[in-house]
Amino acid sequence: MNDMRTPSADTVSHALVDDATYRTMYQASVSDPDAFWGEHGKRIDWIKPYTKVKNTSFDYHNVSIKWFEDGTLNVAANCIDRHLPERAHQTAIIWESDDPGVSQHISYQELHEQVCRFANVLHAMGVKKGDRVVLYLPMIPQAAYAMLACARIGAVHSIVFAGFSPDALGSRVADCGAKLVITADEAPRGGRQTALKANADKALAKLPEVKLLVVRRTGGDVAWNPERDVWLHEEMERVSAHCEPVEVGAEDPLFILYTSGSTGKPKGVLHTTGGYLVYASMTHQYVFDYHDGDIYWCTADVGWVTGHSYIVYGPLANGATTLMFEGVPTWPDASRCWQVCEKHKVNIFYTAPTAIRALMGQGDQFVEGIDLSSLRVLGSVGEPINPEAWEWYDRVVGKGRCPIVDTWWQTETGGILIAPLPGATPTKPGSATRPFFGVQPAVLDPHSGEEITGTVAEGVLAITDSWPGQMRTVYGDHDRFVSTYFEQYKGSYFTGDGCRRDEDGYYWITGRVDDVINVSGHRMGTAEVESALVAHPKVSESAVVGFPHRIKGQGIYAYVTLMHGEEPSEELRKELVAWVRSEIGPIASPDLIQWAPGLPKTRSGKIMRRILRKIAENDYAALGDTSTLADPGVVDDLIENRMNR
Ligand code: WT7
Repeated sequence: MNDMRTPSADTVSHALVDDATYRTMYQASVSDPDAFWGEHGKRIDWIKPYTKVKNTSFDYHNVSIKWFEDGTLNVAANCIDRHLPERAHQTAIIWESDDPGVSQHISYQELHEQVCRFANVLHAMGVKKGDRVVLYLPMIPQAAYAMLACARIGAVHSIVFAGFSPDALGSRVADCGAKLVITADEAPRGGRQTALKANADKALAKLPEVKLLVVRRTGGDVAWNPERDVWLHEEMERVSAHCEPVEVGAEDPLFILYTSGSTGKPKGVLHTTGGYLVYASMTHQYVFDYHDGDIYWCTADVGWVTGHSYIVYGPLANGATTLMFEGVPTWPDASRCWQVCEKHKVNIFYTAPTAIRALMGQGDQFVEGIDLSSLRVLGSVGEPINPEAWEWYDRVVGKGRCPIVDTWWQTETGGILIAPLPGATPTKPGSATRPFFGVQPAVLDPHSGEEITGTVAEGVLAITDSWPGQMRTVYGDHDRFVSTYFEQYKGSYFTGDGCRRDEDGYYWITGRVDDVINVSGHRMGTAEVESALVAHPKVSESAVVGFPHRIKGQGIYAYVTLMHGEEPSEELRKELVAWVRSEIGPIASPDLIQWAPGLPKTRSGKIMRRILRKIAENDYAALGDTSTLADPGVVDDLIENRMNR
């Protein structure tokens, strides 16, 4: 595994840090975290400076994570107000709409006014410090305004990806006890409109206390409930453009973001204020080698954590120009991303392997002829990037000049934990390389839980000490936080990922080791898809696993047992796919459904997923031990009728 790519002389001369500096800083960060973060915590503005830095415990009996706990600050003031003296007229947000003919530049001054007004609208609607507000919005500037407006008044936002169904929205609104939902009339994407307001109406049908604030995006027709619904543009006119940022504690919540786990319903990952902002801004600067004046584009959606940390909070805390893209990479055609890079002279481009693979599959002609000379750094996130996609990204998009930063992290981690630093870290296609400052990864033996201390190691990935961006708890369920992340391997944060460490100490993430699958970089709990399927009246039982998918990374493979007397048919297959889409959202649509007269179970009734995964992968030759099955015969039927041949 020694396919090392050393950074070019240009990259090195431009870079914030070189290899030696990385090593020195990393050593300092882990040998004395208090001193290191005490210093770097000053990169943001504090109202009341902290005197304590790190107060964290991964002890299973007493998990508690606090950073900068006695400091106070305001995130919106850090992302906007403090930049005004120097960059009032600099563009804060470039908005590129779904329509390739429409874009907009929003200066820091304009951002300030919009966010202040928005915050006053929230106030006028009764939102107070600590209240939860759910955002269900397209990728429009109002999404960023709404986030920052919440932060300005100390309210806690919880964004629900606009691709989620009314049911998924409703359950998240109920779980976090939000009193207000912010949505838009419609969400244009790839030339089509999603009826967001209509979805929100359905979601709120059983939540009569919740108010709805609506952004007019397309002007399309919407049903209106005058008791409950409020147009944002009307309220924005009414309120003052002045709004003092509220002083909040470093450990006060900033946002909740629901994410899927291996069991049960999605959990509300809670991030707090001070440590999160320090970590998001610092990783944004170092991992992307961000310099003043750079045009930075992350193609994620604000509905995912990447959009929180690396479209809004990290870049704006650094006074950057961040691009927000409403559309999709393949519409009007596969050149869209490169057209946008050329049009706005993007310097740093951050996307997901699934997008790279999809664009690669369309052919190089969509990239050729477009001026990509502004590009300097390319990023990847969301799932392991296969070397073929890495090479294409490097050669066809980066013309061999741009370092690729493969960034490994999670909703829970708040920011990037493992990634190369441009100019400092030689890269290897497919490896996320080395830990960021303050991050202490450990490779554990999955069976014994012992740390494998040799440089070369393979096992599960854990992190042995806290970093400032770490989630603090599961909203409303601290026990679940402890049992999900700290119980299995006591004393460490368990990531749920498998990994390998090579002879250079580089990390290679091999994918989830739990019942979470990664579909196009989106995290999906197999249990969630299963419970959607069994909610269908004709389904008696189901088991869902991932299988390798050329574009999506992993696809969703569902084994379905029907109720007695129900007959399998193509219509029913389509009906079940549509059913899951409407229960969860299009990202959860099963790619393959296999009718299973029975599922392989142990005598105690536990489904043997290992066997189902092997069959779904079309790798059934070595199924391992099936002798503990209650009825070994079901396996032959499943192999016989497998869908992924
Ligand atoms: C899971 C977290 C972090 C933002 C996007 C996803 C996988 C993420 C990488 C990478 C290999 C990766 C892991 C992780 N993952 N980035 N660079 N290489 N795997 O956030 O939805 O919380 O998912 O995504 O399996 O655990 P998420």
